[in-house]
Amino acid sequence: MRTRPLKVALLGCGVVGSEVARIMTTHADDLAARIGAPVELAGVAVRRPSKVREGIDPALVTTDATALVKRGDIDVVVEVIGGIEPARALITTAFEHGASVVSANKALLAQDGAALHAAAEQHGRDLYYEAAVAGAIPLIRPLRESLAGDKVNRVLGIVNGTTNFILDKMDSTGAGYQEALDEATALGYAEADPTADVEGFDAAAKAAILAGIAFHTRVRLDDVYREGMTEVTAADFASAKEMGCTIKLLAICERAEDGASVTARVHPAMIPLTHPLASVRGAYNAVFVESDASGQLMFYGPGAGGSPTASAVLGDLVAVCRNRLSGATGPGESAYAALPVSGMGDVVTRYHISLDVADKPGVLAQVATVFAEHGVSIDTVRQQGKDGEASLVVVTHRASDAALGGTVEALRKLDTVRGVASIMRVEGE
Ligand SMILES: NC(=O)c1ccc[n+]([C@@H]2O[C@H](COP(=O)([O-])OP(=O)(O)OC[C@H]3O[C@@H](n4cnc5c(N)ncnc54)[C@H](OP(=O)(O)O)[C@@H]3O)[C@@H](O)[C@H]2O)c1
Repeated sequence: MRTRPLKVALLGCGVVGSEVARIMTTHADDLAARIGAPVELAGVAVRRPSKVREGIDPALVTTDATALVKRGDIDVVVEVIGGIEPARALITTAFEHGASVVSANKALLAQDGAALHAAAEQHGRDLYYEAAVAGAIPLIRPLRESLAGDKVNRVLGIVNGTTNFILDKMDSTGAGYQEALDEATALGYAEADPTADVEGFDAAAKAAILAGIAFHTRVRLDDVYREGMTEVTAADFASAKEMGCTIKLLAICERAEDGASVTARVHPAMIPLTHPLASVRGAYNAVFVESDASGQLMFYGPGAGGSPTASAVLGDLVAVCRNRLSGATGPGESAYAALPVSGMGDVVTRYHISLDVADKPGVLAQVATVFAEHGVSIDTVRQQGKDGEASLVVVTHRASDAALGGTVEALRKLDTVRGVASIMRVEGE
């Protein structure tokens, strides 16, 4: 074993960074044996230097992250600050000064992954980011390496623990959205401002990263269609149950049936209770991958939290350190397929539509005609009437989102349709 240690600069020492530092210390001997050289924490950049940080030598702490990554003797920079800047500039500077980078930063990777990969390649360094998607769950490396000989057609994931906790609560207790969110906040599963989670921004960043890797195509955050889950109601769950389904916020990355394009989207969807993702409870994450040769795979585990996320960071650190010692680099960006990324209108799926209609003869026929005129074929219809009003629940066969959109627009114009109570996509069949 080499005795000279590999030097690691830790940028950020919060929820994830503090756990990275702790594991680096407590597992130092095992890490050294696995890497073939000891790893040394050479500096820790933070915002508030006076904060007491257990297990961290105060002499290592600095507020000058730029000077730390410019030192020239740093082998690996671990970026766990988050956000776009200064993380982006620090990572780029790290490459320029000869370091490889491990990051957990989904927002940055989704927005600027291509440029960061290019910078890593230009300087012959590694950029690893297993922790950026689904915390502890090994996913990036299995997609990038283990499935490199296969053809991935679809990735269907629960990649946000907060929203899964809320939806699971609504499902199991009949609670409304606000009540379930309040409980998630009280238990620490939701942040004071839950927007990034409940509006699907966090999941969309992960969808962009997953789609890019799965389809060897650049997919940016802007390419991902996004709908949050704040409009999901207890009534939607009741309808889902009647269909033998539950509701999950899903990140879905798909190759089109003709293989000529891909899509990436995040929205709430009904999935059958028989689908493996339906059994993912609480704040857990899971990603279901469908590929040509392997068939169906599911990756499951804790998608967040200091220690689980640090596990993924440490796995990357070991891999990057090994590459460093052997003078090699791991696989970089693979975007050779360069498939066009289609918009939501081209997505083909099934729909569950709940309409409030007048309870009188001929309404059903009128509604059915609108569906037929737009080429959307109906699978089942259920009607319940009360006091001159009725609710009509229509489940369609597979149709494009554009066709469904046209159908709904036309339905809204019918005198007999009082309102469209909900539209939910049905996935996983
Ligand atoms: N938390 C999770 O469960 C989780 C899961 C997966 C991925 N991630 C990702 O991991 C990254 C870190 O998340 P986190 O939860 O650990 O965040 P966090 O608890 O807020 O920690 C951020 C750290 O960065 C430091 N920092 C902020 N601005 C800085 C600056 N300009 N210069 C130097 N240091 C700065 C902070 O310093 P102070 O300590 O002085 O405030 C803090 O130590 C994010 O990209 C996040 O998306 C987190």
